Amino acid sequence: MEGFWYELKHVCKQSGARYGILHTPHGDVETPMFMPVGTLATVKGISPEQLKEMNSQVILANTYHLWLRPGEDVVKQAGGLHKFMNYDGPILTDSGGFQVFSLGKTRKIEEEGVTFKSIVDGKKLFLSPEKAIQIQNDLGADIIMSFDECAPYPCTHDYMKQSVERTLRWAKRGKDAHQRDDQALFGIVQGGEYEDLRELSAKELVKMDFPGYSIGGTSVGEPKDVMYKMIDDAIKWLPEDKPRYLMGVGNPIDLIEGAIRGIDMFDCVLPTRVARHGALMTHSGRMNINNEKYKYDFTPVDDKCHCYTCRNYTRAYLRHLHKCDEIFGKSLLSIHNVAFLLQLSEDIRTAIKEDRLLDFKEEFLNSYGRDVY
Ligand code: GUN
Ligand code: ZN
Repeated sequence: MEGFWYELKHVCKQSGARYGILHTPHGDVETPMFMPVGTLATVKGISPEQLKEMNSQVILANTYHLWLRPGEDVVKQAGGLHKFMNYDGPILTDSGGFQVFSLGKTRKIEEEGVTFKSIVDGKKLFLSPEKAIQIQNDLGADIIMSFDECAPYPCTHDYMKQSVERTLRWAKRGKDAHQRDDQALFGIVQGGEYEDLRELSAKELVKMDFPGYSIGGTSVGEPKDVMYKMIDDAIKWLPEDKPRYLMGVGNPIDLIEGAIRGIDMFDCVLPTRVARHGALMTHSGRMNINNEKYKYDFTPVDDKCHCYTCRNYTRAYLRHLHKCDEIFGKSLLSIHNVAFLLQLSEDIRTAIKEDRLLDFKEEFLNSYGRDVY
């Protein structure tokens, strides 16, 4: 693996959280970090220039969606994802495993792979560990994911054991199929809420020696305390000199709780998805811009936020755009929410370096609220 490694710089004496640098072929990024999601090779409503301006680090794209549209051959011919979407920072692609399991209604899981119906045209499709890697080799992201099964919650120990063992065999097959030395292929720890299966999954993946490890199968409907335990059960088997990525988790509180448990990378569609419905994350909790009380409110969304939206626009204007369903409004709200999580990541890193992440958590929750997400 060329040009990719994780450098652990500091462990917070108060919380155990890690501050580090992830070196990638498209630049160095600081962790813990929030990674904005750009499923279809675009972070909805935000240009690459704007992402750079708000100090985004890695951004995400998705194998499954890009395979269906436009097809990985188009991206490959364009010169890879970075050129295709005009983003020269690091990019990560998810393997499609999760999407097949969450979007595919009539799927059939076999040892060889998964057969399911396309969300685009209903056509029958087949995705295997090798195919998922080939697509990701063609897309050309800096970090790519093994093809895995994200089993539903709850499910029986029996089912989960079979699923974990199959996902381990898939991880091995994907690793063997992986062709490019300039892309870091991560293994994904599964095992649901079963401590012994998280251990099995993590230990076997570590034996295969991946350049990084993801924790999957969280945020699938389980209570918070169960999710935190899943993280603990997986992370204690992972090597300190490799990055850990908690998949699909990225609300403000979980960013802090995850970092405290040793997570380095997070992603979530939440900031852009809720923005399109008028919901904003602020230092004093959630705000719905639709609210009548903002009609004559000429202050920014969040006076602690430095984003383009908060620097230039008022609540009254944003409410007006949102009420009229204006495209620019959705864009401005998305910019704020993504910037909010990027700034929170920065604050988390600063608190880690100052050995005060637990204090920071209390300060943040005192104004943000504890039951918000
Ligand atoms: N995104 C969120 N959870 C998961 C998971 O378990 N597996 C994969 N591949 N992607 C995810
Ligand atoms: Zn803002």
